[in-house]
Amino acid sequence: MKAAATFLYGLVMAGITMAQVRGDPDGINDFLSDGPFALHVKGQAQNGSIDGYLHTVHTYGVQSLLLYERLSCPKADDSSYRYYFNYTGEMKSNDVDIGFFVSDYTVEETNAFGLKGQAVSLQFDLNTNLAVPVMGIDTAVLAGFNAENKTFLTHYMDDSTTVAGERPPYKDYEYYNWAVCWQAISNVVAPVLSWVTVGQPHNPTCELVDLVKVSL
Ligand SMILES: *[C@@H]1O[C@H](CO)[C@@H](O)[C@H](O)[C@H]1NC(C)=O
Ligand SMILES: *[C@@H]1O[C@H](CO)[C@@H](O)[C@H](O)[C@H]1NC(C)=O
Ligand SMILES: *[C@@H]1O[C@H](CO)[C@@H](O)[C@H](O)[C@H]1NC(C)=O
Repeated sequence: MKAAATFLYGLVMAGITMAQVRGDPDGINDFLSDGPFALHVKGQAQNGSIDGYLHTVHTYGVQSLLLYERLSCPKADDSSYRYYFNYTGEMKSNDVDIGFFVSDYTVEETNAFGLKGQAVSLQFDLNTNLAVPVMGIDTAVLAGFNAENKTFLTHYMDDSTTVAGERPPYKDYEYYNWAVCWQAISNVVAPVLSWVTVGQPHNPTCELVDLVKVSL
């Protein structure tokens, strides 16, 4: 059960306060889970060419990346195209469940945290305003779906409202900053699902996209 608390701590680091997590901490392993679904990637540009699906690819490094592939429909029979959404039912953003994306855990072994599957978190680098969604086991970034099934990431502060000596007000912010960008990470050189922290993407190949849940 201690492992579960460590995992939860990862969630807290990803942007929620402990006070938002209610219920029996020993029961935190019992995530509710929706899925499987595919993640449809659709360019926001009016005449954009991006239209396809995400799939998970292992790298020579520790983590897996989420790559964009041009496809007219998801490959439902391939687990690397299937995702789940794990949530507690207690954490909400604007009355919508928030949780995190998980790989198809039905085909995976139980990991060191007593969970199956890998969760999506963000990896940052010092030379860009792009974060890279990666699959790992120790942390997760909090996400949700809006009424159109578009996926968002959530945070409780907007640092652009900071006033010296004060903490910005807590609020449920939903961000839709997904992009597909050519990236060279580990042994992979490919159009990678990316996250624009703020402003225009620093990488000139990026195209802003919507990420939409499509039930399988
Ligand atoms: C999209 O394509 C149409 C037809 O090819 C063109 O008339 C229009 O200007 C294009 N719009 C943009 C935003 O590029
Ligand atoms: C996701 O939820 C399912 C169902 O509760 C559970 O079996 C699995 O271990 C969870 N995985 C993660 C990474 O949270
Ligand atoms: C969103 O997805 C659910 C299934 O997960 C589906 O029942 C619903 O129709 C979808 N909503 C829209 C607006 O596509």
